[in-house]
Amino acid sequence: MLLQDQVARPVPGREPVPLCWEFGCSILSDDKGMPIWGQIGLLRRKNKTMQNILDHLKSQQETALSELCDFLRIPSISADSKYVPDMQRCADWVMASMKDAGLTAKIFPTKGHPIVYGERIRDPKLPTVLVYGHYDVQPPDPLDLWTTPPFEPQVRDGKLFARGATDDKGQLFTHLKSIAAWVKLNGELPVNVKVLIEGEEEVGGANLDHFLETQGELLKADVAVVSDTSQYGDGIPAITCGLRGIVAAEVRLKGPSKDLHSGIYGGSIANPVNALAKMCGKLVGDDGRVQIPGFYDDVVELTPLELEQYAALPFEESHFLKEVGSSATFGETGYTTLQRRTARPTCDINGIAGGYQGEGPKTIIPSRATAKITCRLVPTMKPAKVLDALEAFLKSNCPPGIEFEFKRSHGCEAFVFDPTSDWLTAARKAVETAFGQPPVLVREGGSIPVVLSFKQILGIDTLLLGWGRNSDNLHSPDEHIHVQDFHRGTRASACLWAELAKVQS
Ligand code: BES
Ligand code: MN
Ligand code: MN
Repeated sequence: MLLQDQVARPVPGREPVPLCWEFGCSILSDDKGMPIWGQIGLLRRKNKTMQNILDHLKSQQETALSELCDFLRIPSISADSKYVPDMQRCADWVMASMKDAGLTAKIFPTKGHPIVYGERIRDPKLPTVLVYGHYDVQPPDPLDLWTTPPFEPQVRDGKLFARGATDDKGQLFTHLKSIAAWVKLNGELPVNVKVLIEGEEEVGGANLDHFLETQGELLKADVAVVSDTSQYGDGIPAITCGLRGIVAAEVRLKGPSKDLHSGIYGGSIANPVNALAKMCGKLVGDDGRVQIPGFYDDVVELTPLELEQYAALPFEESHFLKEVGSSATFGETGYTTLQRRTARPTCDINGIAGGYQGEGPKTIIPSRATAKITCRLVPTMKPAKVLDALEAFLKSNCPPGIEFEFKRSHGCEAFVFDPTSDWLTAARKAVETAFGQPPVLVREGGSIPVVLSFKQILGIDTLLLGWGRNSDNLHSPDEHIHVQDFHRGTRASACLWAELAKVQS
C-alpha cells in the first residue's frame, strides 16, 4: 500500500518521468536522464507564463502575508458556541477572498457552521480540481502558554504565530493566492477549480457529508487537493499517501448522588475517579499494545516492501524528541517511532476530569468522573467495531455502584491513496519544482475525514500536499507557520495547476 509500485507510469505525449530512487520515491529527470535540481531556473527557460506568475507571487509576498494575518485575527473556534458570530465573519472573509481571487463564491449555511464554496470553470474539457480546506481552528487553550495572544498574529524569527497559522488557514490560503496570481497574470487558470472551505473539520462535523451528498453535481471534479498535512522534514517535501482514521468517545461515570466526606464514607462505596483511573489504566499495556480484546483483529501489517520504504526515510530520534519536548519515546514493541505514529493504531486519553482540582486538599469521594478517549485507526479497522470493543472493555472493568455512560462521537476509517496515479505524478513534479527536491511519499498519523468522504461520496482521490511542518505546534500553544513555508507552498500551488492541466482525465 504505502509507496508501493510507485514507478510513475509514462503518459502519452508527456515528458518522461522515471529514474532514480531515493527515500523510496523517484527523482524526476529530464529527457537525458539528468536529475532536475535547478527547477526554478529551468522553468525560466521552459515556461514564461509560469515564471511570470512565480515572479508576481514573489513581489506580492508582503501583501499575501498581511492578508493571512487578517484571516488569522478572526477567532473561528468551531468547538465553542460563543464563537458562532466569528465563524460567520470568517466564512464571509473567505468568500470575499475567493471573489478577490477571481472565483464566483457563495456561502452555504448548514445546521452547524457555514460552508464556503467558490469556483472558476474555464472549459469542461479541462481537468477539474476540487480544493478543500477548513477555516475553523482548535480552541487556543491553555492561553497562558502562548508567547503572544493566539488571535494577534505576530512574526518572530521567520515564523508567523497564531492559532490556525498552519492548521489550516495558512495552508489553504496558499491556494487562494496562487489562483489569484494565475487569473491576474494569465487571465485564466489552466484547469477548472472548485474550492470548498468548511468550518467544522476540527469538530468532526457531520454536516459536510450531507453537503457532499446533496451537491454531487456542483462538486463534480476529477481530483481533490488538500493542504492540511505537513512536509516530511524541514525542506523535505512530502505527499501524504495515507492517513490514520479515528474514533472518539467520552466515558462518564456516576457514583454517589453528591460528593461525600471521604472519612465518613471512604472504603464503603466505589469512588468514580478511582474507577475511571483504573479502567483507563488498563487500556494500554507496558509493551505499548492496546489491551482491548479484538482491537488488532482487522489491522493490516506493513508489507516487507513498506518496511523497507519506512527504513529508507531519514529519521533522527534526537530531533524527534526535541520536536515533542520529551526525554524518551514509548510505543508498541516491535515497531519504529515512525511506524508507531503513522501505521499503527492507538488508544489515547485526551482529557480526564473529576473531583476537586482547586488549591489545597479536599477530602471527598467525588460524585462524577469523565474521560475523553480517541483511538487512531489503520487499514482496515472499522470505527463502529472499535467503539463497541472499547465500550465493552471499559464497561467490563466498571465496579458495582458506578453508573457507566459511553457517549460516541465522530469517527472515520483510515485511508491509503494510490501512489501510481497520474495526478500524483503531476503533483510530484509541481512540488519538486517549488521545493528544489522531490517529495517523499509518506503516511501520516493524523486524520482528515473528508478525504474518505471524497472517495466514497464523490468518487475522487485526494492529493494531500502539506506545506507546513509537524513541528508547527498544531493544536498546541504557539502554533505557527514558517513564513517561507507559506510562500513556498503558494509557489508549489501555482505550479500544481499547470501540472494537473497536463493530466488526461
Ligand atoms: N490538519 C489536521 C490533520 C493532520 C495534521 C494530518 C498533520 C496529518 C498531519 C486536521 O485539522 C486535524 O486536526 N484532524 C483531526 C480530525 C478529527 C477532529 C476528526 C485529527 O486528526 O485529530
Ligand atoms: Mn487541519
Ligand atoms: Mn487540526
